[in-house]
Amino acid sequence: MRLAPQPSARPLRLMVLFLLATGVTASPLLSSGCPDRCVCDDQLVVQCAGQHLTTFPVNLPLATRQLIISNNRIVELPALALNYLSDLVYLDCSNNSLTEISESTFGNLRKLAYLDLSFNTLSRIEDRTFGPLASLVMLRMTDNPRLSEIHQDAFAENAALQVLDVSRNNLTVLNITSLIALPSLRSVGLSGNPWSCECENEDLCLWVHLEDEGQTVCGSPADMQGRRLGEVGIQLRSLCHQTLGSWDYLFFVVIGFVIFAAGTVSAWLMGVVMVLYERYIKKKDEQLDADEEDEGGEMGRPSRARSHHEMSN
Ligand SMILES: *[C@@H]1O[C@H](CO)[C@@H](O)[C@H](O)[C@H]1NC(C)=O
Ligand SMILES: *[C@@H]1O[C@H](CO)[C@@H](O)[C@H](O)[C@H]1NC(C)=O
Ligand SMILES: *[C@@H]1O[C@H](CO)[C@@H](O)[C@H](O)[C@H]1NC(C)=O
Repeated sequence: MRLAPQPSARPLRLMVLFLLATGVTASPLLSSGCPDRCVCDDQLVVQCAGQHLTTFPVNLPLATRQLIISNNRIVELPALALNYLSDLVYLDCSNNSLTEISESTFGNLRKLAYLDLSFNTLSRIEDRTFGPLASLVMLRMTDNPRLSEIHQDAFAENAALQVLDVSRNNLTVLNITSLIALPSLRSVGLSGNPWSCECENEDLCLWVHLEDEGQTVCGSPADMQGRRLGEVGIQLRSLCHQTLGSWDYLFFVVIGFVIFAAGTVSAWLMGVVMVLYERYIKKKDEQLDADEEDEGGEMGRPSRARSHHEMSN
């Protein structure tokens, strides 16, 4: 059996060279180079800290395991570029100008164990943002002075999470339902936020009591300001689950009045019915008597009386 004629060695070698050349120049992702102003080492660590970068570095080695872009002025984490780095384990984005993180930003970073988003200008964290980060062990998200909203299920899927730090943000409430359910969580930093010490935050206050945090204090309401969350937890529990509130008392007063009124009206109605019935009976009796009298007047008593007269005469 004969195969197709073998191509001569020379054109094949040229073709391979051509493919390599185009591959290298057309796709920066395949380069073994290093981004401008960054330092890359053979441990797959890319260090770009404090380089006045305003955009995410390009030309990153595809196999990068640690990326440090802290102390720059980067305004956005581009999902596409980031998700090529599927071997990334460590990502430090602290002290930049990030204002938001889209839900697809971390879509492919399944090995990421450490993420630092501190000292940025994030304002809210959505439901799915950290969802794909199945290996995330430590998440630092402190010192975002505008951060006032974290979705109740933001960390629900981060089953490996051990340390979460959301200190010194602008948080007033935090729903801890999904946090409590995380099996590995052992430390949560909450201090330096203007926490609301009202019933909406009762669970958090009671939880902090167990964790015993020093600088975790109430920011509102006014009469609770500065008090430690752990202290007010017990107070909130009795305050928020009062057996009777003022509305309950009002309810009882109204219900009492309604019952009283209904009783009075029904008694009156009963009275009226009784009176009418009595009158009816009386009338009927009188009518009977009258009928009897009428009958007797024609042939009964008077005739008897007459005969009496006749006899006595
Ligand atoms: C943030 O980075 C700037 C340089 O871009 C630096 O001067 C500043 O000290 C850093 N701040 C913190 C809190 O690390
Ligand atoms: C923090 O949140 C409050 C509302 O809860 C808002 O009035 C205030 O401006 C926020 N602070 C910053 C620095 O964004
Ligand atoms: C807290 O979040 C859970 C889901 O994680 C939700 O079922 C619950 O209603 C939330 N609680 C409050 C007070 O919003």
